[in-house]
Amino acid sequence: MNDKNSAEQAYSDFTRSLSYGDYLHLDGIHAAHQPITQAHDEHLFIAVHHVSEVWLGLIVREIQAAMKLLEQGITDAPLKMLTRVVRAQEQMTNAWEVLKTMTPSDYLEFRSAFGQASGFQSQNYRMVEFLLGNRNPVMLRPHAHRPDLHDPLKAALEGPSVYDLALRLVAARGLNIPDEVLQRNYAEKYTLNEAVVDAWIAVYRDTDTYWDLYELAEKLMDVEDNFRRWRFNHVTTVERTIGFKRGSGGTSGVGYLKQALNIVLFPELWEVRTRL
Ligand code: HEM
Repeated sequence: MNDKNSAEQAYSDFTRSLSYGDYLHLDGIHAAHQPITQAHDEHLFIAVHHVSEVWLGLIVREIQAAMKLLEQGITDAPLKMLTRVVRAQEQMTNAWEVLKTMTPSDYLEFRSAFGQASGFQSQNYRMVEFLLGNRNPVMLRPHAHRPDLHDPLKAALEGPSVYDLALRLVAARGLNIPDEVLQRNYAEKYTLNEAVVDAWIAVYRDTDTYWDLYELAEKLMDVEDNFRRWRFNHVTTVERTIGFKRGSGGTSGVGYLKQALNIVLFPELWEVRTRL
């Protein structure tokens, strides 16, 4: 076949079949891109948020699918899903490279237009945090006016996290995970438990016996590691854009985001590093 002619052979009549744009609902996607000022950089600001939300949606789906399998005692297939989460997180972290081409002056051209809107109100982001185990009922409040967003978040807050499910698997292998951990109130913040540290130490000291748990633990470390990188790049981009001004969502801004850098999702997995 002659290369010159190959484009001419492509399908061109979409009166009766789905085109690329139809399938992907591109009209809807582009219609959602609606700057409210004439500022050049508002387009970039909206695009980076949209792209990040699409990745967050995928991350939520993958974590939920992985959790369903972990609940059934399956450890290999979830690794593939969590690897996809890790790759998607990398894409989100790289998005700051594009956004940081926006200077404080560029941002101020449209900042006042979006009022109190803030990523703080991202349902997808909060869902990721809840599924990974960072629980705080206060975070439900911005969604009170939207039961369709609020109710699934509340269900995630009150159910086991991916780490709770991993600990069930550790217990199922005969390692000691105390009942107070296995039957804890999921809506409360998880804190380090010494017996759980010992159980993970056993896994890391005998990787041949516990290879599947060891791989799962390291995959969870990858997820938390990447989450930290996203948070760090976010707060750095925020500081270089708005300094120490209050956030549009009503928090202290950089101060609030810096505090979040101290969050630990899987405390015993970090502790194992010191104890081994
Ligand atoms: C220059 C651009 C940005 C600025 C100045 C900014 C600023 C802030 C500030 C100050 C907060 C604290 C909450 C508040 O608003 O009071 C926040 C939270 C947040 N932002 Fe951004 N942000 C930017 C870009 C983004 C992007 C592109 C995303 C991608 C989705 C994002 C997602 C979030 C999320 C998820 C939170 C909640 C974090 C948490 O509660 O731990 N932000 N942002």
